[in-house]
Amino acid sequence: MIAQSFIKELLDRADIYEVVNRRVPLQQKGASAWACCPFHNEKSPSFSVNRERGFYHCFGCGEHGNAISFLMKYENLPFVDAVEKLASEFSMQVRYEGGAPKPKSGKPRLSEIMQRAMEFYRDKFNSDKFSQDYLHNRGLKDETIERFGIGFSPDAWHNLDAVFTPDLKPLLLEAGLQRTGQSGNVYDFFRNRLMFPIRNIRGQVIAFSARTMIGEEPKYINTGDTPIFTKGSEVFGLYEARKSIQDKKRVIVVEGQMDVIQLSQAGFGEACAPLGTAIRAEHIERLLKMTDHVIFSFDGDAAGRKAAKRAMDLSLPLLDDAQKVSFVFLPEGEDPDSLVKKSGAPAFEEMLKKALPLSSYLIEALSQGLDLAVLEDRNAFIEEASPLVRKTKSPLLRDGLIERLSTAVGYKNSDELRKYFGFPVLPPAAPQRPSGFGNQRYSFGRGYD
Ligand code: CTP
Ligand code: MN
Repeated sequence: MIAQSFIKELLDRADIYEVVNRRVPLQQKGASAWACCPFHNEKSPSFSVNRERGFYHCFGCGEHGNAISFLMKYENLPFVDAVEKLASEFSMQVRYEGGAPKPKSGKPRLSEIMQRAMEFYRDKFNSDKFSQDYLHNRGLKDETIERFGIGFSPDAWHNLDAVFTPDLKPLLLEAGLQRTGQSGNVYDFFRNRLMFPIRNIRGQVIAFSARTMIGEEPKYINTGDTPIFTKGSEVFGLYEARKSIQDKKRVIVVEGQMDVIQLSQAGFGEACAPLGTAIRAEHIERLLKMTDHVIFSFDGDAAGRKAAKRAMDLSLPLLDDAQKVSFVFLPEGEDPDSLVKKSGAPAFEEMLKKALPLSSYLIEALSQGLDLAVLEDRNAFIEEASPLVRKTKSPLLRDGLIERLSTAVGYKNSDELRKYFGFPVLPPAAPQRPSGFGNQRYSFGRGYD
C-alpha cells in the first residue's frame, strides 16, 4: 500500500501542467491552459488545465481529475503504476505504508532483468571493435547507437551467468534471455549478435532483436513472447519516436529496425517499425492514437505492394474523419536505410510529400491489370472495392471513396454505387449552398487528396 501522506506530497509536487503538456501540448489562455481533449474527439479545445489548483477538466466530455488520474487514463495505467511513474518523473521516492518494501509482481522484475541485460550488452559493445566497425560502416554515429541502446552479445554460451546472481536464473528463462537445451542444460539465447533493445512506450526494455554480423541464418533472432512482451503488438522505435511524432504530427512506418535507426539519424525521428514483418491492426490502432497521419513506406516490389494492400485493408475500419493514411513506394532494391544514405534526407522528405493518399492508392491498387472500359473488368473492380468501402469507418472517407470509384468506372454520379454498396443515396446538393469555406470539405472526393 502506498502511504496516503505520500500521495498528498506527490500531488503537491507534481505540476499537472507539466504532466499534461509533455503528452498533450497546452496553450495558455487566461488562468487556464487549453488543448483538444485527449479523451474524446474534438476540433476546438475544451480541455482545460488549472495549474494552481492541480486539476484538469473537459467542458466537452466532463472528464475531470488530478495528475494521477490523468496518467491512469491517458497511459492506461493502474493506480499504483501511475503513482510510481509520476513519482519518478518528479524524482520522488514512493513511500509505502508501514515502511514495507515495495511489493514486487513478476512483471517489473522481468523488465529490470532486461534493463540489466541491455547494460551488459552495451558494455560489451563498447569494448568490441568488430561490432563498432560494423555499425560505423553502416553509417551510424555513436550518438545514434547510444540513443537506441544497441549492444553486443559475445560469442559464448554462458555470458549472462556471470551477470546475474543464481537466484535470478529462473527469470532469465522467463525473460527469454536463456533457453533450456534437450539435455536440460541452460544456455544464453543471444550469442555473437548485435543487440537491439525493444522498449515499451514507457521506455522499459521488454525484448531484444538480435542481428548477425557474419551472415548467419536467420539474419535476425528475436525474443519470443514473454509475460512482458507480445511480439504482435509492439512497435520498434515508438518510445524513441514519441516526441517527434507529436512535433511533426505524423508517423512514418517502415519495415526494418535499421531503417528506423538510420531515418532517426537523418532527422526523421518519427519513424518506427512493426516487429516481425507483417503490420497488424493493433499496430495501426496504437499509431492512430498518437497522431492523425500515418505514412507507410514500402519497397516498390511485389512484396511491398502486397504489404501496402494489407495496411490499407487494416486502416479503413480504424480511420476517423480527421485522420489520414498515405503510402510511399521506394525504388526497387532500396529500403529507407539505403535510400537516405544514397540520396539524402531531402530526397526522402520529397518522397514523403508526394506520398500517395489511401484514396488514390485504393483506386490504383484495385484497377491494376484491369481495363475499366470493359464491363467485366469494371464489375470485378467494383466487386473488389465493395468490402473495403463497407468496412470504412469514417463517413467522410467512405463517401469520398464511393465518389472516386464512381468516377473511375465512368458513372455520372455516385448514386448507383451507393445503392450497390448498401448506402442511402445522398440528396442532391442545394444550388444555393455557398461554395466557400466550411462546406468545402464535404464536397466529395476532395479533402482526401
Ligand atoms: N526480421 C526478423 N527475422 C528475420 C528477418 C527479418 O525478425 N529473419 C525482421 C526484423 O525486424 C527486420 C525486418 O524484419 O528489421 C525487416 O527485414 P530486412 O529488411 O531483412 O532487414 P533490415 O531491417 O533491412 O536489416 P538490415 O538492413 O540490417 O539487413
Ligand atoms: Mn536493410
